[in-house]
Amino acid sequence: DFDAFDISEELGFLLEEPLTNLPDYYRVWLDLANNLTDLIESHKLRDLVHKRWDSSAWDMYGRKDNMGLLRLGLPPILTYADSVLANWKLKNPTGDMEIGNMDLIFSFPGGESCRGFFIVSLLVEMAASSGITGALEVMHAMKTLELSGIQKGLVKVTQSLKKMKETFKLMHNHVDPTAFHGTLRIFVSGWRDNPMLPRGLLYEGVSNEPILLSGGSAAQSSTIQCFDALLCIQHEDETRSFLTRMREYMPPAHRQLIETLSVCPSLRDFILSSSSSDLCKAYKSCVSALVDLRNYHLNTVAKYVVVPGNHARAMGCPLRGVGTVLNDTGTGGSNLMVFLKSVRNTTQKALILER
Ligand code: HEM
Ligand code: ALA
Repeated sequence: DFDAFDISEELGFLLEEPLTNLPDYYRVWLDLANNLTDLIESHKLRDLVHKRWDSSAWDMYGRKDNMGLLRLGLPPILTYADSVLANWKLKNPTGDMEIGNMDLIFSFPGGESCRGFFIVSLLVEMAASSGITGALEVMHAMKTLELSGIQKGLVKVTQSLKKMKETFKLMHNHVDPTAFHGTLRIFVSGWRDNPMLPRGLLYEGVSNEPILLSGGSAAQSSTIQCFDALLCIQHEDETRSFLTRMREYMPPAHRQLIETLSVCPSLRDFILSSSSSDLCKAYKSCVSALVDLRNYHLNTVAKYVVVPGNHARAMGCPLRGVGTVLNDTGTGGSNLMVFLKSVRNTTQKALILER
């Protein structure tokens, strides 16, 4: 299973040993990527990209006639997989994967807060790895209807969700709301459902029509969608379509795991029809840990997006315009508070098990 879905037992959806260097062919682009922050700050990036660009550059990405899904199976925009899953290295290669010993391969504006945001997200992903193993165990135990296996798997998922929440708390020590809101978010945003670029972006030499692509967001993480699929939490309407669309921004093998879990016989129906109160408890604890994590996430979004957003709006500074336009829209393009509350409420509803 681990190989088929391109996951690591220890690291979950994180790439095990991301390359920090690529063959010569990619040299010019790597040089730009390695100096991204400086080039953006000195306003040189756009010019340099333009100079070095020729349509053969699309060859490194894949075929240019299929804009939706290119080589790696990912769309041509910065995704969660690029910025988190495959964007880490150890400072001391023999040391541990803890925040003090970790660094990004490619950084964006936002200084320490940029590093903190991506590394903490990565550590949360890592904390999810035992939960993914748990989900696979439940999936297999369901095939043989082995109650104790299902229960054990669920307990693993619950413990992992709790660990994810504990790890999430690191955000507060490593990410400053002003730097996050005023700087980093702007560079992670995309050109679909973004009020700043309502018509998308023209990819010169590729298409005569502007292309619409969502910005990077942890909504593109496969982890929580796997847990939703396992626990049969079905989101509704726009919330559901947004989450489904985010799957296009996930590495195909990871997306496949969500889809595999979604078409398994319903764990929830099985629990409802079984007479095991232990199993029912294990399911509820698991959903409840997911509600907890989503509530914690909502509070964090208030601190890092809503509060600094309101502050910038109150200042009425035109230079803060970008920040204020993005106040109600997530970098992934959702109407963020409406979306996140809907996701949380649907999760909470799954706690009701009429028997
Ligand atoms: C979705 C903000 C950290 C997991 C979102 C959305 C926003 C947001 C605004 C709405 C989707 C969109 O981008 O349009 C934040 C902020 C964070 C943070 C401000 C920290 C400062 C994280 C971390 C994770 C995470 C560390 C876990 C790896 C998710 C998930 C969704 C989401 C799974 C989809 C909704 C759901 O399934 O509950 N986030 N996020 N977020 N975020 Fe975060
Ligand atoms: N998705 C996060 C946001 O909208 C990064 O702020």
